[in-house]
Formats: sequence, structure tokens, C-alpha cells
Amino acid sequence: MPFRPVCTLSQLPPGALTEVAAGDRQLAICNVQGSIHAIEGVCPHRGGPLGQGALHGKVVVCPWHAWEFDCTTGQHDYNPGIQVATYAVKVEGDDILVDLP
Ligand code: FES
Repeated sequence: MPFRPVCTLSQLPPGALTEVAAGDRQLAICNVQGSIHAIEGVCPHRGGPLGQGALHGKVVVCPWHAWEFDCTTGQHDYNPGIQVATYAVKVEGDDILVDLP
């Protein structure tokens, strides 16, 4: 699948989290100490916008009811049955590209 540009590194300094739209998907893009990760942007709880939440280390906190997900794995913090999709990321120059199915 093609990698698509979704935002730029200059928009996403270390410790930042942002929401982007890519096609019909909403993604949350995280910069964990210079390592970029992309996860599904819609919280599986009630549909909260994960990209508008907070990033604590590698943990994304949903802004609606504070469910937490590891942005490197998509795993919920304590319920292994809950996970959000993760997407491969590459950086080319200042561009952040995500591999979307
Ligand atoms: S919608 Fe995300 S925690 Fe409720």
C-alpha cells in the first residue's frame, strides 16, 4: 500500500500529538522522543478524537474519558482485549508518511 503524507515533522515536535485526516480515516500521530507513530484516531470507547488528547511518554490519553493507549502498539493500558489499529510510518525530509490500507 502507498505511503501518504499526512503532516510534517516541523508541525510535530517531540512530545507532540496531532490529529490528521487521511482519506476517510482519522489518525492520531505521535512524536515519542523523535520516533513517529500513527494509530487509529477514533477511540473504541465512545468515538473520542484520540489525536486531540494528551501524549504522556508513549501513552495517548483520550480527551473524552481518559482511556489510555500505547501509541507504539495500539494496546489499551490495562485491558488486552482493547486495541486501536497502528500504521507504519516513514519520514522523508520534513514529511511524515503513513502506510494506509
Ligand atoms: S471516548 Fe475515549 S475514553 Fe471514552
